[in-house]
Amino acid sequence: MFQKVLRYTGRHRKTTYASILVLVAGVAMSVLPYFFLYRLLRPLLTGGSLTLEETLFNAGAMALCMVLYGLLYVEGLALSHRSAYHTLENLRLHLQSKLEKQPLGAIQEKGVGVWKKMFIDDIESMELLLAHALPEGLSNLAVPVVVFAAMFLTDWKLGLLSLCSLPLGVLAMGMMYRSGMSKMGDYYAAGQKMNNTIVEYINGMEVVKVFNRDGESYHRFETDVKNYRDFTLDWFRACWLWMALYTSILPCVALVLLPVGGYLVLAGASTLPDYALVLCMSFSVGPPLVRAMNFMSVLPQLSYKIDQMESLFNIPPLKEGKTDFNGNDLQIRFENVRFSYEKDEVLHGISFSVPQGSLTALVGESGSGKSTLAKLLVHFYDVTDGRITLGGQDLREMSLASLNEQISFVAQEQFLFNTSLLENIRLGRPGATDEEVLAAAERAQCGEFLERLEKGIYTMAGDGGKGLSGGERQRIALARAILKDAPIVVLDEATAFLDPENEEKMNAAIAEVIRGKTVIVIAHRLQSIVGADQIVVLDQGKVAGIGRHDTLRKTCPAYEKLWRAAEGAAAWRVSAEKGGDEA
Ligand SMILES: Nc1ncnc2c1ncn2[C@@H]1O[C@H](COP(=O)(O)OP(=O)(O)OP(=O)(O)O)[C@@H](O)[C@H]1O
Ligand SMILES: [Mg+2]
Repeated sequence: MFQKVLRYTGRHRKTTYASILVLVAGVAMSVLPYFFLYRLLRPLLTGGSLTLEETLFNAGAMALCMVLYGLLYVEGLALSHRSAYHTLENLRLHLQSKLEKQPLGAIQEKGVGVWKKMFIDDIESMELLLAHALPEGLSNLAVPVVVFAAMFLTDWKLGLLSLCSLPLGVLAMGMMYRSGMSKMGDYYAAGQKMNNTIVEYINGMEVVKVFNRDGESYHRFETDVKNYRDFTLDWFRACWLWMALYTSILPCVALVLLPVGGYLVLAGASTLPDYALVLCMSFSVGPPLVRAMNFMSVLPQLSYKIDQMESLFNIPPLKEGKTDFNGNDLQIRFENVRFSYEKDEVLHGISFSVPQGSLTALVGESGSGKSTLAKLLVHFYDVTDGRITLGGQDLREMSLASLNEQISFVAQEQFLFNTSLLENIRLGRPGATDEEVLAAAERAQCGEFLERLEKGIYTMAGDGGKGLSGGERQRIALARAILKDAPIVVLDEATAFLDPENEEKMNAAIAEVIRGKTVIVIAHRLQSIVGADQIVVLDQGKVAGIGRHDTLRKTCPAYEKLWRAAEGAAAWRVSAEKGGDEA
């Protein structure tokens, strides 16, 4: 258990150890006064007497111990907190680096709530373990052990009596761990579920408001919050009796010692001063034992959390090679590529190649697998079977960084970070100057809407880019790609924002992005790709045809169907526009 955590203390492990040592010294100082108390009491019991100096010395020593205890305790906690917060930092960074290597699907599948709970709540709760439970628990436990040994040395019979309450207490503690752990899984899962539901509820507020305020979403919220309460209470109910038992029994070291020890003294088997000394010591172990127990009781929870955290990353990471891109050219080949997100396969053996410098269009009905194919090419996921090569080199052999240098990917849905639009574009090439960013924005046709914004390109994008319209967001993404200037461009056109003015701007921006590049464009407006070097028609995860526009119209029924639908849509739009003019 401690090993698990200590792994993450990194170079602060020494501080952790130091804090334990200082706290042990502190606790020892809290025990010592009972020894001096005994020295004050002994003459009374043996009929001797104390000089004033002796009295003052013992009383002064008691006071000094108390002061030292306070100082050491403060210093120990300062050290333990320092190491604790550094460890939390290490843990977060370590988990983030692992998260980076996970396939995108594995991350999205779990839900934002689960990740938030892990990165924020669970890790934060480890502060209790690292800053308190570990050093304080250990130090509070160490001292009673020494005191018990001293009791045995004083009089082994009395020492034995003082240990009598231990087995009962330990038994109760064991029972608490067992029942607590048996409920922990449900309790923890309920917490994760509630987190996910709350995040979803907030993100989906728009839909909730428009449709059903008291509907399904709100009910789920209520149910999950209630469930969490129930599971927490369940967990508590399973534990509280045992908790009460051991916290009351364990520290009562004098429970058997007081009566039976008294009897031994009367029977002449032990001496009165020894009895007094052991009793004094027994009072001193109570408080540290209780403190130790309180901290120990949180250990099973924390152990469970660490296991959970580690299990979140049990999914095999993306297969990523260490070598740089060393392909012969920029030809892209899909070789019998199969892929499933979960159980059902969505791509069933896709093969085609994209010659360097050509423009390939991917078309197909919604859900045919176009975006999936693009995401495989940028290695968001590993292919389930088959392979994808770039210049003859398998994607899985090159590092993600070097693949990234070759490809600009403009996704169907754009996420913008809530920093300025300037910084959002600069992500394309972090070293770019402001002027270069502005030039890229201009080429991506962002000029007109940036002018409308009060702060122009310095406007904040809003959470996830909510401050901009969909079309504007996509043009920001195109500016990013222009700035990046990678030799291959994969462009997943957005389906919406097709009003004529926006379409014209989008076309101009796209023309800038793809000029002189090897391009794969996923096109929803077929009219814009009639001139493509090749068109790949996808139908339900299979290639239904490959060729140029004119040939495909004659040879590929799936393409002909798409084309007719596109013509229909265009005609509908023209007539709608005409209607609009007349009105
Ligand atoms: N993250 C995901 N998890 C599970 N299934 C998914 C996921 N993304 C897509 N799918 C499924 O994979 C199939 C292909 O989806 P994909 O997004 O590639 O279609 P598309 O051709 O891009 O459609 P559109 O034209 O609507 O963008 C669909 O059946 C879809 O339901
Ligand atoms: Mg798509």
